[in-house]
Amino acid sequence: MRVFSFCGLVALLASAPAWGAGPNTCISCHAELDDEELVAPAKLMEQDIHSRQGFSCVSCHGGDATVDDEDESMDEAEGFIGKPGKAKVIELCGKCHSDGAFIGHYNPALRVDQVALYHTSVHGKRLKEGDTKVAACADCHGAHGILPANDPRSPVYASNVPKTCSRCHSDPTYMKGYGIPTDQFDKYSRSVHGRPLLEKGEMGPPACNDCHGNHGATPPGVSSLANVCGQCHPINNELVNQSPHKPAFEKMGIAACETCHRHHDIETPSDQMVGTEPPAVCIRCHGPDKFPKGFAGAGAIRASLDSLNNQYRAAEALVRRAERAGMEVGDALFDLHEAAGSITKARSTLHTFNPARVEEVRVAGTELAGKSSQKAQAALDELEFRRKGLALSLVVIVGLGFALFVKIRDIDKHRRRH
Ligand code: HEC
Ligand code: HEC
Ligand code: HEC
Ligand code: HEC
Ligand code: HEC
Ligand code: HEC
Ligand code: HEC
Ligand code: HEC
Ligand code: HEC
Repeated sequence: MRVFSFCGLVALLASAPAWGAGPNTCISCHAELDDEELVAPAKLMEQDIHSRQGFSCVSCHGGDATVDDEDESMDEAEGFIGKPGKAKVIELCGKCHSDGAFIGHYNPALRVDQVALYHTSVHGKRLKEGDTKVAACADCHGAHGILPANDPRSPVYASNVPKTCSRCHSDPTYMKGYGIPTDQFDKYSRSVHGRPLLEKGEMGPPACNDCHGNHGATPPGVSSLANVCGQCHPINNELVNQSPHKPAFEKMGIAACETCHRHHDIETPSDQMVGTEPPAVCIRCHGPDKFPKGFAGAGAIRASLDSLNNQYRAAEALVRRAERAGMEVGDALFDLHEAAGSITKARSTLHTFNPARVEEVRVAGTELAGKSSQKAQAALDELEFRRKGLALSLVVIVGLGFALFVKIRDIDKHRRRH
C-alpha cells in the first residue's frame, strides 16, 4: 500500500491551503447537477471533518479543481479516480489514516491502526478474497460528510452503531448464502445492554463494536469473551476466574459468561436462574446423577438467596408499617438499605459458585435485616405504649372532669339551700 513519505507530507502540507482557498470547480459544478447522487457529495462536504482541515474532493478523487471544464477537471491524467470500488476505498482512506506522521500533524491523538486492524477482521479477510458485500470504511463512516466518531450524528457514534451494522446484518436477503443468523440487532435491542443504550442513550452499556472491535470485527472467541465482559464487569470476572467453573468450562471449550447469560440477548438476571428446578441454568449441566456436587451447591446457593430475601421482605414490611404510622424510622431504614446491599452482594458472590461464600453474605445480611426489624418493632412498640398512655390519661381526665362536675353541683346545691 502506498503511504506518504515525509517529503510527500511536506509537499502535501505546502499545497493544502490551495484546496481550501479559491473556487472549487468540483463543488460548484456538482452542486448544480440534476442527479441527487452527484449533488449530495458537494452539499455534504461542508460538514465533513476533512474540509475543516482544507481537504476536499481532490484529496480523495484526484482531478483538477481549478478548471471549469468537466473533462479537464475529471481527467485521469490528473489522477482522477471517479467512484472507487470497495478495495480501492481501503487504500484511499488508508493512504492518510495509516500514516502516523501525516495524521499526527493534524490530530496527534488519532489512532492510525484502522487499516491494519481491518485486515484482521472477517470483513477485511473476505474483501481480500473478492467479496464486496462486506463493510469497507465508507459503509460505516459514509463517504461524504464524514464526522468525528464522538459526534452524536456520526453513524459510528455508540447509539447509532447498532443501526449501522444492522443495515447489512439484519437484512436476510443481503446476508443470504453466508449461513449466519440475522437476528443480532433484534436480540440486542431487547437486551440489558441494548435497551438502556438505544432507548435512553446511556453510554455505559456496550454497542456492537465494544464486543466485536471497531475495525477488527470478528466474533469474540471463547478465550477472549470473558475479557470482553470483564472490561466492564471486573468483579464477576474475577470471581468466575477463581471458581471451579473456570477449569471446568475451559475443558468443555465453552465461554464463561456467555454459557449462562448468552451474548446478544442477555436478560436481567433473577434468582430463578440459580437452583435445582427450571428455569435455573444450573440444571443444564447439574443433576442428582450428573455433576451432583454442583447440583447440591445450586440448591444451597438458592436457599441462601431465598432466606435472605424473606428476611429482607419481613423487615421491609415492618419498617413501612412504622413509617406509615408516622414514627421516626431513619435508623431502621439505614439498616434496611444495608441489608439490600447484602442481597446485591450475594448475587455477585454467587459467581464464586461456592455455597459457603454465599452463605457468609446471607448471615451478614440476615443480621442487618434483623437489626432493621428490631428497630422498626421498637418504634411500633413505642407507638403502642403511647397509645395506651393516651387512653389512660383520657380515662384520668374524664374521671377528674366528672369529679369536678359532681363537686361543682354539690357546691351549687349547698349554695341554693342557704
Ligand atoms: C463541469 C461540471 C463538473 C466538474 C467541474 C466536475 N464534475 Fe464530476 N461529474 C460531473 C458529471 C456531469 C458527472 C456524471 C457523468 C459522469 O460520470 O461522467 C460527474 C461524475 C463524477 C463522479 C462519479 C464518477 C463515477 O465513476 O461514477 C465523481 C467521483 C466526480 N464526478 C468527482 C469530481 C471531482 C473530484 C471533481 C473535481 C476535481 C469533479 N467531479 C468536477 C460534472 C462535473
Ligand atoms: C474522504 C474521501 C472523499 C472525499 C473528500 C470526497 N469523496 Fe466522493 N467518494 C468517496 C468514496 C469512498 C466514494 C465511494 C462511496 C461508495 O462506494 O459508497 C465516493 C463516491 C463519490 C461519487 C459517486 C456517488 C455515488 O453515490 O455513486 C461522487 C459523484 C463523488 N464521490 C463526488 C465527490 C465530490 C464532488 C466531492 C467533493 C465535494 C467528493 N466526492 C469528496 C470519497 C470521497
Ligand atoms: C488526505 C488525507 C485523508 C484521506 C484521504 C482521508 N482522511 Fe480521514 N482524516 C484525515 C485527517 C488529517 C483527519 C483528522 C482531522 C481532524 O481531526 O481535524 C481525518 C479525520 C477522519 C475521521 C474523524 C476521526 C475522529 O473521530 O476524530 C474519520 C472518521 C475519518 N477521517 C475517516 C476517513 C475515511 C472513512 C476516509 C476514506 C473514505 C478518509 N478518512 C480519508 C485525513 C484523511
Ligand atoms: C464495521 C464498521 C467500520 C468499518 C468498516 C470502519 N470503521 Fe472506522 N470506526 C468504526 C467505529 C464503530 C468507530 C468508533 C469507535 C468509537 O466509538 O470510538 C470507528 C472509528 C474510526 C476512527 C476514529 C479513530 C478510532 O480508530 O477510533 C477513524 C479515523 C476511522 N474509524 C477510520 C476508518 C478507516 C480508515 C476505515 C477503513 C480502513 C474504517 N474506519 C472502517 C466503525 C468502522
Ligand atoms: C455493508 C454491509 C455490512 C456492514 C455495514 C457491517 N457488516 Fe459485518 N459482515 C458483512 C458481511 C457480508 C459479512 C460476511 C459474513 C460471513 O462471512 O460470515 C460480515 C461479517 C461480520 C462478522 C463475522 C461473522 C462470522 O461469524 O462470520 C462480524 C462479527 C461482523 N460482520 C460484525 C459487524 C459489526 C459489529 C458491524 C458494525 C460495526 C458490521 N459487521 C457492519 C456485512 C456488513
Ligand atoms: C456483549 C457483547 C456483544 C455485543 C454487544 C454484540 N455482540 Fe455480536 N457476538 C458476541 C459474541 C460473544 C459472539 C460469538 C458467538 C459464538 O461464537 O458463540 C457474537 C457473534 C456475532 C456474529 C456472528 C454470527 C452470530 O450471530 O453468531 C455477528 C454477525 C454479530 N455478533 C454481530 C453483532 C451486531 C451487529 C451487534 C450489534 C447489534 C452485536 N453483534 C452486538 C458478542 C456481542
Ligand atoms: C462496555 C461495557 C460492557 C460490556 C463489554 C459488557 N457489559 Fe454488561 N452491562 C454494562 C452496563 C453499563 C450494564 C448496566 C445497564 C443498565 O441497566 O443501565 C450492564 C448490564 C449487564 C447485566 C445485567 C445486570 C443487572 O443487574 O441487571 C448482565 C447480566 C450483563 N451486563 C452481562 C454481560 C456479559 C455476559 C457481557 C459479555 C458478553 C457483558 N455484560 C459485557 C456494561 C457492559
Ligand atoms: C454458571 C452460570 C453463570 C456464569 C458462568 C456467570 N454468571 Fe452471571 N449470573 C448468574 C446467575 C444465576 C445470576 C443471577 C443472580 C440473581 O439474581 O440471583 C447472575 C447475575 C449476574 C449479574 C447481575 C448481578 C451482579 O453481579 O451485578 C451480572 C452483572 C453478571 N451475572 C455478569 C456475569 C459475567 C460478566 C460473567 C462472566 C465473567 C458471568 N456473569 C458468569 C450465573 C452465571
Ligand atoms: C455448562 C455446564 C454447567 C453449568 C451451566 C453450571 N455448571 Fe456448575 N459445574 C460444571 C462442571 C463441569 C463442574 C465441575 C465438575 C464437578 O466438580 O462437579 C461444576 C462445578 C460446580 C460446583 C463445584 C462443585 C464442587 O466440586 O464442590 C458448584 C457449586 C457449581 N458447579 C454450581 C453451579 C451453579 C449454582 C450453577 C448455576 C448457576 C452451575 N453450576 C451451572 C458445569 C456447569
